[in-house]
Amino acid sequence: MAPMTRSRAIGNIPNDLMTTYYGQRAGAGLIITEGTAPTPEALGYPRIPGIFSKPQIAGWKKITARVHQDGSKIFLQLMHTGRIGHMDNLSEGAILLGASDIKAAGQIYTDSIGMQDHSEPISLTTTGVKTIVDGYVSAAKNAMEAGFDGVELHAANGYLLEQFLNPNVNNRTDEYGGSITNRARLTVEVAEKVVGAIGKQKVGIRFSPFSTLGDLQAYDANKVHETYDYLAKVMDGLDIQYIHISANPAIPQKTFDAIRAGFSNTIILCNGLTAETAEEQLHKGFADIVAFGRSFLSTPDFVNRIEKDALLNQIDVSTLYTPGEKGYIDYPALQ
Ligand SMILES: Cc1cc2nc3c(=O)[nH]c(=O)nc-3n(C[C@H](O)[C@H](O)[C@H](O)COP(=O)(O)O)c2cc1C
Repeated sequence: MAPMTRSRAIGNIPNDLMTTYYGQRAGAGLIITEGTAPTPEALGYPRIPGIFSKPQIAGWKKITARVHQDGSKIFLQLMHTGRIGHMDNLSEGAILLGASDIKAAGQIYTDSIGMQDHSEPISLTTTGVKTIVDGYVSAAKNAMEAGFDGVELHAANGYLLEQFLNPNVNNRTDEYGGSITNRARLTVEVAEKVVGAIGKQKVGIRFSPFSTLGDLQAYDANKVHETYDYLAKVMDGLDIQYIHISANPAIPQKTFDAIRAGFSNTIILCNGLTAETAEEQLHKGFADIVAFGRSFLSTPDFVNRIEKDALLNQIDVSTLYTPGEKGYIDYPALQ
């Protein structure tokens, strides 16, 4: 089951409603949770959960226990939203942080004042970047305390780690900006330090090469290719458990090939797959595992439905991020 933000964590604390939701989907071999904030500044969206406080750890503990009861595994996705966010979504005293002070175009929802332009981020100091790394480390340790089987580092979809990778958003002149190695340094340091803290078998990472989500403008295709070629090799050196590719049609075959050639452990492929196309993809040899997002969202017993060749439920897009049970735990399973 692919990571999916559902915005049901009132006060940013995982709750019983979420336990029910994940429990209903525990037929998955591996659940990757919704993006979860390692630190208070990472809460760009309303009602997304965190993993930096005692009540949050206690809430997640119930969820991991429920999922493990049915024999599934569960990884926590650590997501730092960076410049994607609004001050009104952050807790008191927290500030919106970015690789640079370049504001994201477009708007974001807030519970207090509705749709708003993204806030302008404050550019992290070099020491501030080190603090971000420390935040991931303590969040990963908290995830272990909460009973997770591992963590997925979200370096995709235009959030903080990918904001550092993209030269249109990262105009830094310190060791975290400029060359590919420098722009990738935050991602690499986070991975290294998290591996050091919780073990390489418990760490995965998500990438979305060539994606423009989160107002990331496309840049030199050769540079993008080299970036992921480099990252795949570094992650291989760290011997982490998996790389999870959030695919899009702009990814050239040579980039898939470079990632596969560079990385020896598990590769997960996601985006737009059905049971049939997933089977084809698995035979092509790039991916070892496939992930499904919307199919699991609408169909809690998705695995059972594949086995029975049964139709899936229709997804209700109006309730993707709304608080409460509707469109969350009321999708029916087969009797
Ligand atoms: C409601 C919703 C929320 C999502 N939230 C996240 C997220 O928190 N982290 C992430 O990496 N991807 C997120 N995604 C992307 C999914 O993980 C997945 O890549 C996408 O849905 C495409 O896969 P699918 O075609 O199987 O749905 C989200 C997708 C949806 C539909």
